[in-house]
Amino acid sequence: MEPCDLLIHSAAQVVTCAGPPGPRRGAAMRELGIISDGAVAIRGTTIIAVGPSAELRRRFHPAREINARGRAVCPGLVDCHTHIVYAGDRVAEFEQRCAGATYQEIMAAGGGILRTMRLTRAATTAELVEATLPRLQQMLRLGTTTAEVKTGYGLARDAELRQLAAIGLLAAAQPVELVPTFLPAHAVPPEFAGRADAYIDLVIEEMLPLARDWYRVSSFAARSIPLFADVFCERGAFDVAQSRRVLAAAQALGFSLKAHVDEFAELGGLAMALELGATSVDHLDVTNPVMFPALAVSATVAVLLPLVSLNLGLSHFAAARQMIDAGVAVALSTDANPGSAPSLSLPLTMAIACRYMRMLPAEALLATTVNAAHAIGLGGRVGAIMPGMQADLLVLTEADYRWLMYELGGSPVERVIKRGQVVVGESE
Ligand code: NIG
Ligand code: FE
Repeated sequence: MEPCDLLIHSAAQVVTCAGPPGPRRGAAMRELGIISDGAVAIRGTTIIAVGPSAELRRRFHPAREINARGRAVCPGLVDCHTHIVYAGDRVAEFEQRCAGATYQEIMAAGGGILRTMRLTRAATTAELVEATLPRLQQMLRLGTTTAEVKTGYGLARDAELRQLAAIGLLAAAQPVELVPTFLPAHAVPPEFAGRADAYIDLVIEEMLPLARDWYRVSSFAARSIPLFADVFCERGAFDVAQSRRVLAAAQALGFSLKAHVDEFAELGGLAMALELGATSVDHLDVTNPVMFPALAVSATVAVLLPLVSLNLGLSHFAAARQMIDAGVAVALSTDANPGSAPSLSLPLTMAIACRYMRMLPAEALLATTVNAAHAIGLGGRVGAIMPGMQADLLVLTEADYRWLMYELGGSPVERVIKRGQVVVGESE
């Protein structure tokens, strides 16, 4: 018998999400590679075998085992677009929106992102870490084992660097694996009101090089986790030319790229981001379907964020069904942030995607595992239960993985295993 550190067995389903390298598209987004009465063998932080329980129990002599007792096992979820490092809240603005004000009206009046900016600028790095830790703990309980985290509430050199420092400290302080994204061009800060181009100059000349220097000596670089640069290309934020300047400068410094495009207005940011070879393009709520073929033939992942429409009370959602049928690699994420999406829940995100964007449960799961991992440059390392992949997985409370999307506002997660360690639930 071969030794292993942990054997998880007797799962009604091991939902492997296994498949060829690269993000999944079209009909392949419905192929989950489910093994009935399955087992997973783990050595150290890595999955070494996946197969029927009877076979793996004959083959391995585990140091520890988990009897999944007929529950489903699936990959740990990947939240590939979040803004969770911030101070304060937007509860008062929520009430204003309940009374009829729109998100854009609140933003134009100096609230929204700028309100969170004021509170975040006033916070120390330690205060940002303290405010964010409980968010990550809740995400973990909801099944998120890897998350991208953006800056973007500092909007000034030192405050943006404090957000990066907080992301570094948070990565070391708790189990959810983090991927940093530098987003200094998230809004035009008040000091530069009416002078967005001058702010972009500062971003390019000072902030991007400092962020790159921070990354080079960080634990992220040491572990080959990429550093992303992102921009909010939107009316009231940055136009296409400004967004292109930021992303092109970042690319020249070695950043991988992301872009917030087509959330409220279609400005042309999508074509620009595709041209630069962005790893992901995010939102795409109002994208004209004539763009879908170009997106489908690109290597870029489309990250859709349905909790924004849900939270803003909009009846319009991104055209996930059409995108998938056109061959676009679709991922889903919470967009967790204090304004447009105050939720940390990928199960809720999937539940809404199935109901309002006509995604099938299998597509929603691949969109929060394999495709989400590709959206943050970690495809091939996380997102599927395959030999050689990192041992990040969930034991659910139910026998069928579809409970993840079926239940509204719940968390059918019994145990979370991150890099081979049980980090939520009983360890035996
Ligand atoms: O992705 N779109 C820009 N940024 C966030 C909103 C951030 C906020 O409202 O604080 C988003 O929706
Ligand atoms: Fe966002």
